[in-house]
Amino acid sequence: MQYLNGKVYHAAGGFLGQLLEEVPDHTRVDGDLVSRWTSSEPGSVYWTRNVWEKPFLLEFDSISQAAKALKAIQRNWAACPTRLYRRVALIEEALPGISAKARAFPFVIPAAPMGAFTLLDEHLLLGSAECSSKFPNGELSFIEDKGGPPSRAYLKLWEALELAGRMPCPGECCLDAGASPGGWTWVLSNLGAKVISIDRAPLDPAIATRANVSYMSHDAFTLKPEDIGPVDWLFSDVICYPPALLAWIEKWLESGLAKNFICTIKMQGEHFDKATTDRLASIPDSRVVHLWHNKHELTWMRLARS
Ligand SMILES: C[S@@+](CC[C@H](N)C(=O)[O-])C[C@H]1O[C@@H](n2cnc3c(N)ncnc32)[C@H](O)[C@@H]1O
Repeated sequence: MQYLNGKVYHAAGGFLGQLLEEVPDHTRVDGDLVSRWTSSEPGSVYWTRNVWEKPFLLEFDSISQAAKALKAIQRNWAACPTRLYRRVALIEEALPGISAKARAFPFVIPAAPMGAFTLLDEHLLLGSAECSSKFPNGELSFIEDKGGPPSRAYLKLWEALELAGRMPCPGECCLDAGASPGGWTWVLSNLGAKVISIDRAPLDPAIATRANVSYMSHDAFTLKPEDIGPVDWLFSDVICYPPALLAWIEKWLESGLAKNFICTIKMQGEHFDKATTDRLASIPDSRVVHLWHNKHELTWMRLARS
């Protein structure tokens, strides 16, 4: 087994082109896997569903030999075939099964590492025991609620809260900007938090009339933090140019009135606003990710130090 310098980036669904622009000095591309095998630091990379943190090459003779070598490292491995599909499936079948079933929110993210592997040729496996996502190939599916939430946007908030590893508690105060029709407000109110929902468009009446929800028909960005007061959580799913979101976040950070932040950075059309995304990512204690449930958008989150 030969460990490689660098990483393998698994492109977020439909964003291979974007990822290739972020990793222009890649070593090779296999399907949606972009390898950069060099020890120099890469620039910022956002458009991934999973990152293989410690890639290695493994030469092997037989299916059972490959599976045995992987099992000797750890239990969990996700197959990520880009060629030789049958052979990859045979190795996968010789490994312990991993669950791909939909999960009920909330759940505890398993602590066990989830590796990933693919075949570069019949006798050469590329793998990594350490990956950025605890889910096979970064894929996370929830048992959906078809009746309660008025939009499907609730899925990305569920995912963001799972990733955050903490969530609003009963009695905590949340500001939900760009709340209409109310998917995120539905999630937050179900958790027992008090929710101030702001949007120029109305909330679904079934959400707006909940006892722990108050709705303001307003432009979220023209309200000053002092007009709202202290909040435990600040959420935004507002459709806007990224610089407008950044300016609003900066105002809230300056005010010191919000503890935790989860905000969607919506890209306009085909354009990726890398400069603003980099500025958001550089805010201390924060990170930018592409969630499994994100589309042409990224998620910025900053959690209070616990
Ligand atoms: C993607 S939708 C939000 C979906 C919502 N999070 C949900 O779960 O149902 C974006 C919302 O941003 C709102 N919006 C756009 N600009 C806004 C602004 N300046 N202030 C408040 N809301 C805004 C739109 O009216 C729209 O309802």
